[in-house]
Amino acid sequence: MSVLELRGIVKAFGANVVLRGVDLAVDEHRVVALIGGSGSGKSTLLRCASLLETVDDGQVLLDGEDVTDPRADADRVRRRMGVVFQAYNLFPHLSVLDNVTLAPTVVHGRSRSEAAEEARALLDRIGLGDKAAEYPDRLSGGQQQRVAIVRALAVRPRVLLLDEVTSALDPELVGEVLALVREVAAQGMTIVMATHEMGFARQVADTVAFLDGGVLLESGPPAQVLGEPQHPRTRQFLRRVIDAGRL
Ligand SMILES: Nc1ncnc2c1ncn2[C@@H]1O[C@H](COP(=O)(O)OP(=O)(O)O)[C@@H](O)[C@H]1O
Ligand SMILES: [Mg+2]
Repeated sequence: MSVLELRGIVKAFGANVVLRGVDLAVDEHRVVALIGGSGSGKSTLLRCASLLETVDDGQVLLDGEDVTDPRADADRVRRRMGVVFQAYNLFPHLSVLDNVTLAPTVVHGRSRSEAAEEARALLDRIGLGDKAAEYPDRLSGGQQQRVAIVRALAVRPRVLLLDEVTSALDPELVGEVLALVREVAAQGMTIVMATHEMGFARQVADTVAFLDGGVLLESGPPAQVLGEPQHPRTRQFLRRVIDAGRL
């Protein structure tokens, strides 16, 4: 059984149909890289998957449970997913430590001392133990994103959804965030990440899925989708990416 399964996801904003029946199954310990041009629907798909948007049609299954069913407890489901966006993930008025412990304590009811101990261990692991008492604006963008990823992991999610977590960063800060994603993946976390980092997708993803105009045109192992794309639209997209120096 897949950890996360999207079945026939349809989503429109007014007359703008953004997702046109997207199917995607993500097995445990797998990394799926979602690629596609700007406006192709990557963020909307991740937002639908994490129930931040309601779907117009289709289902989201988490561990086989239809969480788009109106009777499902959306809050409970969201607690089983970790979501990190492009930027502005951290609460600016909370220290780094409090950012990481907030959900485990308030939402999951874990004790403050246990959550803090675990948060400190996570921060130490990413080399930011000494920043625990700082406020986010004292951290670089790359440090903030790494804290955001650690914060998402602190609730021990079933799946981590990453939406272009490096695209708002200065180029020299991208590597440290990707290194953390790579490490999290190596530890077995199930991950879906929208990304423009094709080199990273090729190295780390088990599956690359190409979204075009709200349709999942092609998906498969990186070597296949990036190396021998079947669809002309995929080839066109990858050519543009190569021209932009991202492959
Ligand atoms: N909250 C929203 N309200 C209206 N339109 C939206 C909203 N979010 C996304 N869209 C539209 O959905 C389309 C896909 O956007 P998005 O999912 O952000 O694509 P991507 O992440 O691939 O760049 C775009 O046309 C965008 O304008
Ligand atoms: Mg996006």
